Amino acid sequence: MKDNVIVIFGASGDLTARKLIPALFNNFRKGRLPERTHIIGFSRTRFTDDAFREKMRDAVQTFAPRDFSSDTWTDFAPLLHYQPGDLARHNDFGALEQLIHAVTGGECNRLYYLATAPEFYALAVTMLGTTGMAAETEKTGYRRVIVEKPFGHDHASSVALNATLHDVFSEQQIYRIDHYLGKETVQNILVFRFGNAIFEPLWNRRYVDHVQITVAETVGVGHRAAFYESAGVLRDMFQNHLLQLLTLIAMEPPYTYEADALRNEKVKVLQAVRPVDEDRFLRDVVLGQYAGYREEKGVSPRSETPTYAAVRLLIDNWRWQGVPFYLRSGKKLAQKASEITVVFRRPPHQLFGDHCEFFTNRLTICIQPNEGLHLRFSAKVPDEGMVMQAANMGFSYEKSFAERVIPEAYERLLLDALNGDPSLFARSDEIEYAWKIVDSIHSAWEKNPEYHVQQYEPGSWGPKAADQMLTRTGGHWTHGCGALDEVG
Ligand code: BG6
Repeated sequence: MKDNVIVIFGASGDLTARKLIPALFNNFRKGRLPERTHIIGFSRTRFTDDAFREKMRDAVQTFAPRDFSSDTWTDFAPLLHYQPGDLARHNDFGALEQLIHAVTGGECNRLYYLATAPEFYALAVTMLGTTGMAAETEKTGYRRVIVEKPFGHDHASSVALNATLHDVFSEQQIYRIDHYLGKETVQNILVFRFGNAIFEPLWNRRYVDHVQITVAETVGVGHRAAFYESAGVLRDMFQNHLLQLLTLIAMEPPYTYEADALRNEKVKVLQAVRPVDEDRFLRDVVLGQYAGYREEKGVSPRSETPTYAAVRLLIDNWRWQGVPFYLRSGKKLAQKASEITVVFRRPPHQLFGDHCEFFTNRLTICIQPNEGLHLRFSAKVPDEGMVMQAANMGFSYEKSFAERVIPEAYERLLLDALNGDPSLFARSDEIEYAWKIVDSIHSAWEKNPEYHVQQYEPGSWGPKAADQMLTRTGGHWTHGCGALDEVG
């Protein structure tokens, strides 16, 4: 059995400290990290092994305090090593190669993690190619690479990055991460839809009125203004997380739970999404910016970068023809909430009379927080005439799996990459089709130069125009999953 090495490029950065090392530590603590795994950090900052271990110990204590224990850390720390180096220098890759040999004693499996700033992905991959560190044979063990988001800036740059990757790695070796796919509740969408018999017959244009997908955050851009200014919410959240959620909700059942079958079905959804054109833009897109964003450090005082977007998308296929999918995401909103609500059609006949208020059926999938599912329906108020009230059937992770802690998405994704299962990673065509959708919104905006981002108050639910997008057709956004009992 070969040793396994995880090389993290960009090891002195935020992602390594906040997510990667805590996730690896947790996998180790749970006994899930393959035996004889070593983790090597690589970045320009000069650390000794011990200094790197100390920094990572602080990171786990800070970002995963519930999971930290000194005893486990003492066992985990020796797995960590560090190689200072510059991605542009062949010699530094030589030193990395030597360290890998020293640590493993010879041939080993390798997982390279690109956690650098995105502009260095292509360089890191090219260097791995020219130094022969990506060459995979049975004798060498596997060579895999995980690429963090953002994957490109638009369709053209994602095609170029895919081409660079494919010059060095085959598609089977590439793991493009979208941490939303590693979330338990997101994986549960597949189980909910395809592991049960009673929901799927309702999951189409005949019964569904519209679908809402919300990923709301309370935080602002923080110290990431430089990146965010050139990305905005459409590139930062829609191209990846929101469109991934859309594919899982809208896809056809794959014939097997296997990476390519799954990804084929997701790609078909993205292919069927109608691009947003110039005419639809003013009706189907609302872009907002929180008041105060232009005063953030690193933001232009005239910035038109959207920190909020609501978009009405249509899927041109047999199942979803005419069913709008409303997607929204924003920073500095009223609540942190990621949720999907499937709003069902009204009953075809008002049996109890027009005056009688009733409540359309609504299925809400709470991705975070208050993870769970709620189905809203109308119920008769006891001891009254035909008076109805909204009632709920609910499932909450907290109640049903009280003894289980929902893990961080990165735990699962890192394990899957080590085990060679790419199901929860994006394939090259998936990324490129998703960019086409986002690009269509940006170019429709360019053709409507008089349109400006609309200011919204921090702590609100975004621009009023986003509400009007739904009220036009008699709907409204549903706000937050709340505690199970409170959801009305
Ligand atoms: C990241 C975005 O991909 O997802 C951030 O770059 C965002 O801007 C984050 O804050 C949200 O992730 P989560 O898991 O907190 O919903």
